[in-house]
Amino acid sequence: MTLLEPVDPANALFDAVHLLVVPLDDIFWSFPLDDMVPPPPPFHGSRPSTRSRRLGAVARIVAVANQKGGVAKTTTVHSLGFALAELGRRVLLVDLDPQACLTFSLGLDPDGLDRSIHDVFVRKTKAADVRRPVPGVEGLAVLPATIDLAGSEVHLLTRTGREHVLARALAPLGEDHDVVLIDCPPSLGVLTINGLTAAGEVLVPLQCEALSYRGVGQLLETIDDVRAFANPDLQVLGVIATMYDERTRHGRAVLHDVHERYGLPVLQPPVRKSVRFAEAPSRGRCILQHAPRSPGAEAYRAIAAQLTGAPRPSA
Ligand SMILES: Nc1ncnc2c1ncn2[C@@H]1O[C@H](COP(=O)(O)OP(=O)(O)OP(=O)(O)O)[C@@H](O)[C@H]1O
Ligand SMILES: [Mg+2]
Repeated sequence: MTLLEPVDPANALFDAVHLLVVPLDDIFWSFPLDDMVPPPPPFHGSRPSTRSRRLGAVARIVAVANQKGGVAKTTTVHSLGFALAELGRRVLLVDLDPQACLTFSLGLDPDGLDRSIHDVFVRKTKAADVRRPVPGVEGLAVLPATIDLAGSEVHLLTRTGREHVLARALAPLGEDHDVVLIDCPPSLGVLTINGLTAAGEVLVPLQCEALSYRGVGQLLETIDDVRAFANPDLQVLGVIATMYDERTRHGRAVLHDVHERYGLPVLQPPVRKSVRFAEAPSRGRCILQHAPRSPGAEAYRAIAAQLTGAPRPSA
C-alpha cells in the first residue's frame, strides 16, 4: 500500500492486532521445538521387520496415513520418496488413493494407464507388472492408481484375507527396493487397512491448525486394531508437521498437544507453509524438483536423512 491509498479501517485493525500478537506470541510461547520432540530411531536402508523377514522381503515399508483430507499425505510421499532417491535409496511409491493424486503429481496421466494397482487388488495381476519407473528420477518407481481403485474397495470387502492383499502383492518386490512409501487415502477404510497391514511403520502428516489433531486418536485406535488382528509389529514413527506457520503460536500449540496427549514423536523440522507446494504437482514434480533450495524442500531432505540415519544436510 502506498501512503496515498485510503486506509481501510478493517485492514488497519488487522495489521495492528497482527503486529501485537506475533511478538507477544514469541515472548510467551517459547518452549523450544527441538527439546519437545524425541527423534525417531535412525534406520539404515533395509532393516527387515520380523514379519517382512518371514515373507522374505527386505524393503522398509512405511505407510503415510491420516484419515483427515488435505494434510499433505501425497505431498509427503512424493517429496520424501524423491529425497530418499537422492540419498541413493531404491524407492517404490504406492498410490492407494482412488483420487490418484500421487500418480498425477509424478507426471503420469491416470486416465491413460492400461494397468494400475486396481488390477493387483481385483485381477491378481503381479505388482511387478503394474510398477513403472518415475520418468526422469533415478531409483524411483511407482505402483500407480486410477479411479478404478474406488471399485476395488467394494471387491475387497467380499474377499477373505482382504486386509493382507497389498502385503502379499508387495512381498515379491521386497528385494528390488530399499524403501516402499504408501500414500493412503483420506479414510480408515479397507484400502488404508491394507496399507497399514503391509507396512512396518506409519508416518502421520498433521496440518498445524486448530482441531487438526482431533482425528489422531481415531487413527491410533485403528492402528491398534491392525496390530491386534493383522500386523503386530506395526510401529508409529511419528508425526510430520505440515503447512507450519512459524509466526503463530497456533501451530506450536497443536504440535505440543499431539505430543502431550498421544506421546507421539514429532519429526524435525516442521514443513513450513508455502505456495511453492501447490505449484509443483501440476508440473509433474515435487517441491525438491520445483524449488530445490526452498525451506520445504530442505525440510523433507532433513526428514529423509533422519529416517535413514544419513547426516542431516546443512540448511
Ligand atoms: N507445506 C505446504 N504448504 C502449503 N501447501 C501445501 C504444503 N504441503 C502440501 N500443500 C498443498 O496442500 C494440498 C493438499 O496436499 P496433499 O494432496 O498432499 O494432501 P493429502 O493429505 O494427500 O490430501 P487427500 O487427503 O485429499 O489425499 C495440495 O494442494 C498441496 O500442494
Ligand atoms: Mg492424498
